[in-house]
Amino acid sequence: MKASIYIATSVDGFIARTDGSLDWMPQFGASGEDYGYHSFMESVDALVMGRKTYDKILSFGVNWPYTKPVVVLSSRPIDIPDELNGKVVPMGGSMPEVVQGMIQRGYEHVYVDGAATIQTFLNFGLVDQIIVTVIPVLIGTGIPLFGPVSEDIRLELVSQASWPSGLTQNTYRVVSSDS
Ligand SMILES: NC(=O)c1ccc[n+]([C@@H]2O[C@H](COP(=O)([O-])OP(=O)(O)OC[C@H]3O[C@@H](n4cnc5c(N)ncnc54)[C@H](OP(=O)(O)O)[C@@H]3O)[C@@H](O)[C@H]2O)c1
Repeated sequence: MKASIYIATSVDGFIARTDGSLDWMPQFGASGEDYGYHSFMESVDALVMGRKTYDKILSFGVNWPYTKPVVVLSSRPIDIPDELNGKVVPMGGSMPEVVQGMIQRGYEHVYVDGAATIQTFLNFGLVDQIIVTVIPVLIGTGIPLFGPVSEDIRLELVSQASWPSGLTQNTYRVVSSDS
């Protein structure tokens, strides 16, 4: 199973303020540019996100933004609104159990979202591709995208893009984990 990250950060490496707010992010779609999001989404079979990212998306109170199945990781039962029955798949347990659960569902390429979840997948050597879009702002403190790694994770820069809006995007392939 292939796993990819597609995420936006501030220049100082945060994906959200400490309270989870995203007010510093531009409205995606406002410029008519989608920063490769739709073609990336087309390439995945499912998303896997942490419970905190799921709660944040539900808190927006707008239409569910995904057409692909969304696996939500949590150590406890989660609330699934009736309209999301069959679209949201709760999972927990050990990482090998989570991976096995996704393979059994036939997912060959998953989109991993949420910093804590991304860090867990990275430390289990499960990430193949990292696409980071950098927003030209410093927010000083918040939830960092990356954290401690059990060993160095070497990346190969596959492509770079930049837009008049000031956003830049690096796509990396994970080469190997080594000590
Ligand atoms: N900038 C962006 O593009 C972007 C993208 C995504 C998210 N965000 C923001 O990031 C914030 C959330 O990220 P986060 O790093 O705080 O949290 P997260 O990764 O979304 O969620 C962490 C939670 O996921 C569950 N979890 C993770 N791995 C698990 C495992 N192997 N087994 C069982 N449960 C597991 C746990 O839930 P329980 O505590 O329920 O056990 C854990 O507390 C939100 O504010 C969101 O808006 C920003």
